[in-house]
Order: sequence, then C-alpha cells, then structure tokens
Amino acid sequence: MPEPQVLGFDEAGSGRHLVLIPGFPLDARMWEHQLEGLSEDRRVIAVDLRGRRRSKDIDPTSATIDLYADDVAKTIRRLGQEKVDLAGLSMGGYVVFSFFRKYPEMLRSLILIDTKAAGDSPEAQEQREKVAAEVLEKGTRPLTETLLPKILAPGATEEVKDRTFEMFRDTPPETAAADSLAMKDRADSAHDLGSIKVPTLVLHGDADQIMPIDDAKHMASLIPGAKFVSIPRAGHLAPLENPDQVNFAIAKFLGELDSAQEAAQEGDER
Ligand code: MLT
Repeated sequence: MPEPQVLGFDEAGSGRHLVLIPGFPLDARMWEHQLEGLSEDRRVIAVDLRGRRRSKDIDPTSATIDLYADDVAKTIRRLGQEKVDLAGLSMGGYVVFSFFRKYPEMLRSLILIDTKAAGDSPEAQEQREKVAAEVLEKGTRPLTETLLPKILAPGATEEVKDRTFEMFRDTPPETAAADSLAMKDRADSAHDLGSIKVPTLVLHGDADQIMPIDDAKHMASLIPGAKFVSIPRAGHLAPLENPDQVNFAIAKFLGELDSAQEAAQEGDER
C-alpha cells in the first residue's frame, strides 16, 4: 500500500477551510469559480488528487479511493486544520464518503455534488477495467471522445467545453487508469447514509446525463437532515456549468453553519 502524500492545491481566501475534491478525470481547475466566489469568508482549498499537476506519484495498480481520502486527510493536517467543510464532485464524492468513514472527527460538514452512494455493479466494474486498459494502451483521447459529450448539459458554453477538454487532455493516462480501477473497487456507501451526523448539502445538476437527479434526491432523503438543491442549466459538472447557483447554495449552507457556530460560542462564553 503506497504512503499517503501531501497533495498540491489551488487556494484563495482565509479563515475556516472549505476543501474541494475533483471528479474523474479532472483536477483542481474545475473549482476555479468556487475559489473566486466563495473565498471572501473562508479559505478555499481545491486539491489535485495524486497523479495530477503538482501532486505526483501514482501507481495504477495500487491506487484506491481510501488512499485518495488518506491523501486529503494528510493535506488537511499539514494545513494545521482539525475540522473542515469537505466537498466532492462525483468521484470526489466517493472520496468524501471514504473520508467520512475514516476521519469523521475531521468533518464540520459535507457537500456532495453530482455524485452517488452506491458501489459499482459487476457490469460497471468490468467497464472500469476496459477503460483502464484502453487509456493505458491508447491514451485518454478515446475516453475524452466518449465522456465529454455526456458530461456537460446540452447547452454548455464553448468556454466550459474548452475548460473541461483541457483537464481531460492534461490528465496522464496512468492517472485516468488509476482512477478507474480505484472507483471499480470502492466501497458501497449506501449503508452509511443514515449514520452521517454532520450537516450535509447535496447539489445536483438538473440535466446530469451520467447520474440521474432522482437518485441524488433519494440519497439526500436518506441522510438525516440533509438539504437538497437542484442546479438548473447544469449537467454532471455543475460547479463549472452554473457556478453562480452552486456558489449561492454553498455560501448559504456554510453561512448558516458559521452563524450557528458563532452563536453557540457566544453562548458558551456567557
Ligand atoms: C466522475 O465524474 O467522477 C465519474 O463520472 C464518476 C464515475 O464514473 O462513477
């Protein structure tokens, strides 16, 4: 089992930490609008999972979603933080679920975006193997051609398409293969939903063609007290496709948590 590593990240702002984990096969740049739009009140950290940009060292045969969660935990500790607000998109959401199982004491809240709790079916696992073998043999271009048309809502702008393409292009084949195999073997998180005790926000693009919005609504209904917000005019990459609505929902959710925490602290001091 490889050692956890401190990840590279993009950041903005100062104060309480909001940590953002990207989807497959993307990197921290998918959160560019959240770094800009949410950093007035907090420090926003968008990590690059291993094998991407400044985070080095990936071995396709031994990467796991749990290892990605260990990397995130090590990075948060290196930042001197005991508790953070943690958000993940799609595969990033799988990492959030693993983090919740391994490091619950490090969470103030969870934000699950365009993701799902269920594990892979045997057919989906077989497909992950095929994707990994194909990218190692032919590079990420065939994957890009299959996934890119589905990942964004039909009305996505050229700018959003270009940003998404750039991230696909820059992800090394070994990294895409590692992600695919890591997702194949991830734990099924469906049974954990009822035991999530921290405040949770579930966001989902209303035109997500990869993960149906009704499944996300159902997932949210199984998490005690979770809030669900549907993001209009967005597919599977809501933070890039409709950043204003995503930022509004996250700012409201975290703002309410900040106020409640401050009120509780004032109460304690009296
Ligand atoms: C992602 O966007 O991270 C992937 O679609 C997740 C998956 O393939 O399960």
